[in-house]
This record gives sequence, C-alpha cells and structure tokens, in this order.
Amino acid sequence: MRVPIIAGNWKMYKTPAEAAEFVAELLPALAEFSTVERVVCPPYIAIPGVHAALKDSPVKVGAQDVYFEEEGAFTGRISPRMLEGLVEYVIIGHSECRRDYKDTDEIVNKKVKAALAHGFKPIVACGESLEQYEAGETASFVAQQIRGAFADITAEDALKTVVAYEPIWAIGTGRNASAELANDIVGGVVRKALVDLYGTAIADQIRIQYGGSVKPDNMADYMGQSDIDGALVGGASLKVASFTELVRITAETRG
Ligand code: PGA
Repeated sequence: MRVPIIAGNWKMYKTPAEAAEFVAELLPALAEFSTVERVVCPPYIAIPGVHAALKDSPVKVGAQDVYFEEEGAFTGRISPRMLEGLVEYVIIGHSECRRDYKDTDEIVNKKVKAALAHGFKPIVACGESLEQYEAGETASFVAQQIRGAFADITAEDALKTVVAYEPIWAIGTGRNASAELANDIVGGVVRKALVDLYGTAIADQIRIQYGGSVKPDNMADYMGQSDIDGALVGGASLKVASFTELVRITAETRG
C-alpha cells in the first residue's frame, strides 16, 4: 500500500522567525493524522530551526532544492553535505528551478543521484507547460522528464523517491488540472514511464503526487483518484488551517 504524502513547498515565504511560529502551531494540528506522511519544505535558512522544532515529531522536513556538487566555488548553492541531518526529503526539478536556474533533465538527474548518495529521499517534480499541454505534447514530454531524471538510478533507489506531477499551467494560477486529467497523466504517463524503467512491481510502489493549485476544496477529488498518492502544495501550505485541512481530507479519503 502506498502511504499518502502531503508536502508543503513554502517557496520564498517565511523568515526563520515566522517559520518557527508557524511550525509551533502546525505540529499539534497535524499530530493526529498518522496515516498520512506530512512534510514541510522551508527556505534553506529556516531549515535548522524547523528541524529542531520538529525533531522526534511525525512531521518531516524537506529542502526545496539541492546542488549536486559536494563543495566548491558555487555561489549561492547548497550542497547535500550541508543538509545532512537536517532534512529527509529534497524537492528536485521543480518547474521554478527548471525555469529560473535552467535545471535540465541532466542536471535534475545529477541532483537526484547526489541526494540519494547522501541518504535523502528526492521528490522529483515534472510537468508540462501550457503550450505543450495545448499542443498535445504532455505525454511525450513528461515521460521524457521521467526517463531523464531516473537515468542510471537503480530500482532500489527509485523506491526511495516520490514523483510530483505538476502541470506548469496549474502552479500558483488557481487553474488546477481536473482530478480525472491529473489521474490519467499520473497513471498513464508517469507511472507508465516508471513501469517501462523498473517493471510493474517496483513502479506500483512509487508514490506520485499531484501539484498545482491544490486547495482544501479540490483535495477530496484528487485523493479519490486511483493513482494519486498525495500532493505537493505551494500556496495552501502557508497557512496552518489550509495545510491541516489538506492532510485531514487525505486521511479521511484514504482511511
Ligand atoms: P501551488 O504550488 O500549490 O501554489 O500551485 C505548487 C507547487 O509549485 O509545488
């Protein structure tokens, strides 16, 4: 059985002080939903404080990105070594990183390998642009992103990953993909690409999230789908009430 996973991607929101205040309120609110894996991904600078506050708690910490080198003259980057002991998950290949930092599939693959080598669980993000969606290129593009991200990754390591399917046209736009469409892509494209790489027995164990304008009022639709195993959430993860509601709905829908 795939345990549902809800991860909050805070993006460039919350100072360390705001993060501390937030998790102090979030932790008791999320404590009871033990059937759902709960993850928060603060900005780097807030990670040590959030890690300390959530230590020994059921709420896990993730980073929003990681560089693939161990150390060196890479201004502004954070290496996997620096995150050791602080996070369990690392988001890799978010469309904003692909757009702003020119993360290609090859770079995404290097980051996935570096994260795995340091014992982190990558949340590998994929998803097509509006132009690609309208041109009917979603399936071929997303499958290629998966093949690229997972190149030379063993089945054993693939099992440590989570994939997040996030159509770019749905991120932060309020224009979410319908639950049926999202499920079709998650099952028919993302999981299918994983089946092609690793076989059904492995692919069936890898969790795939949907992301893009997930809100309390559309969450039950997503969680009611056969192939969607959780959500990667931006905006709605920034408030204790809405993030808790997403986790509550997931627990309720998935039992
Ligand atoms: P959103 O962001 O929930 O604000 O659309 C999702 C994401 O970028 O992970």
